[in-house]
Amino acid sequence: MKDVYILGIESSCDETSASIVRNGTDEIATVILSQIDIHTNFGGVVPEIASRHHVKNITMVIEECLNKANMKMTDIDAIAVTYGPGLIGSLLVGLEAAKTLSFIYNKPLIPVHHIAGHIYANNLVKTMEYPLIALVVSGGHTDLVYMEDEYQFRHIGGTLDDAVGECYDKVARVIGVGYPGGPVIDKMATEGKHSYQLPMPLDDDSYNFSFSGLKSAVINLVHNEEQRGNIINKEDLATSFQDVVVDIITKKTIRALKEFKTSRLILAGGVAANQGLRAKLSTVCAENNIDCSFPPIKYCTDNAAMIATAGYFLYKQGKFSGLELNAKSSVELK
Ligand code: KG4
Ligand code: ZN
Repeated sequence: MKDVYILGIESSCDETSASIVRNGTDEIATVILSQIDIHTNFGGVVPEIASRHHVKNITMVIEECLNKANMKMTDIDAIAVTYGPGLIGSLLVGLEAAKTLSFIYNKPLIPVHHIAGHIYANNLVKTMEYPLIALVVSGGHTDLVYMEDEYQFRHIGGTLDDAVGECYDKVARVIGVGYPGGPVIDKMATEGKHSYQLPMPLDDDSYNFSFSGLKSAVINLVHNEEQRGNIINKEDLATSFQDVVVDIITKKTIRALKEFKTSRLILAGGVAANQGLRAKLSTVCAENNIDCSFPPIKYCTDNAAMIATAGYFLYKQGKFSGLELNAKSSVELK
């Protein structure tokens, strides 16, 4: 079969990214322009500022990606783009760029769900085999997804309130260690000890998660200690918080693997970069004979290579969109 080159475009949050991937496995070139430095000043992503930066950078990012790959638009077979979920103003920028290129160069347009992209980042490392459970943990999601076969998603549980990455970012803000909070708390957690008592969030029989109570517990603890004139040990608090998060995620993930009788687990999303989560899941999976794969950190956070990869599987199924495709801030994974 002829090689298939997909151009992926991602702009759902604060990364503007373009990538060319061959046959859903080989990354030819990727460009990612992160806005983290801009949003750090505000302690989180400011949607209006994010979309303005996407507008400024999108053309340059796509051009640079083609240059890096030494390819022209005429060498591309199809354009895959994130249409949702995400920040609406940000999504629209990547989507309009993709639609324009699709129209001008007469290339099929492939609509990719952002979470499908995160999951398919794993295929850049190792060909995915089914059935499997995907644990998607990011700034916007905490989801357990059962995949019986290629590009078949069954959402079995998710967060009822804050996503796990969002909770990391809020806790980091409360203890004043900057944005994005995940990597900082993760590092601090290796330096502290579990000395603060925090509630185990939604420890029930479902596959759902809830992190807002845990977040409030951290906020209350910090305020109470401050009012008493006590100094918080930030490293100890980071360890105590991370232990609880990792414990509940691991517990529900292992139960899902058992119930759905599969021994394959893949991780996806920005929080999959978490060292504590990686260490605990590796240990527990080894004890239970589960094949657990973590994408390298560069594929965990938002990037267009994962979108081009997911797009390849839709390309194979002929699942294209017309130019009426619209961005959706929230949309079911299916
Ligand atoms: O997947 P991603 O790049 O964007 C979304 O689609 O949300 O994930 C970003 C999230 C942020 O909340 C960030 O704090 C978190 O991933 N994150 C981490 C780590 N690295 C990034 N959270 C915990 N530990 C980490 N090492
Ligand atoms: Zn993401």
